[in-house]
Amino acid sequence: MSDHASLISARHPRGTLLAASEKETLYGELFAALSAVVEPGTDAIAAMASCAAVLHHGVPYASWTGFYRVVAPERLAVGPYQGPLGCIDIPFARGVCGAAARECRTQVVADVQAFPGHIACDASSRSEIVVPLLSTAGHLVAVLDVDSHLPGAFDEVDRAWLERAMTLLSTRLG
Ligand code: SME
Repeated sequence: MSDHASLISARHPRGTLLAASEKETLYGELFAALSAVVEPGTDAIAAMASCAAVLHHGVPYASWTGFYRVVAPERLAVGPYQGPLGCIDIPFARGVCGAAARECRTQVVADVQAFPGHIACDASSRSEIVVPLLSTAGHLVAVLDVDSHLPGAFDEVDRAWLERAMTLLSTRLG
């Protein structure tokens, strides 16, 4: 499956934005890769690590891709990720990840500098999307955070596919 992911990433040079139709094709392939890699009953950390790798190397406009896990009431800690060093702890009260965890709802932020309380782990980050990952019982397990150095990189296509990916992961966690 790593061959699959590298073929996809070779098709689109890192740092490029994609049109909606290109995103649909790409995410379709990434979803198939994720579905093949993360089998039913996969350990949660292994599943998150594999998901971060598939998405980060597949999505050319991603600069940081990873998970913040719920480790205590109202507290997130960084989990498996790909990209430069991320912040360690994020309270639910702060940042885009905190908002996604608090509201248990996807956040699509076209301009991170305009988002009150945005946490700048990477000063070059310009836009991001954060998607909740729930257990099958409906409890918040983690949030998936994908950042970009490009403004407005994420839209409804990213939202739909990343939410679908988190639903898949949810049903596959051991
Ligand atoms: N931008 C995030 C923080 C996490 S990092 O960028 C990796 C936020 O405001 O929640």
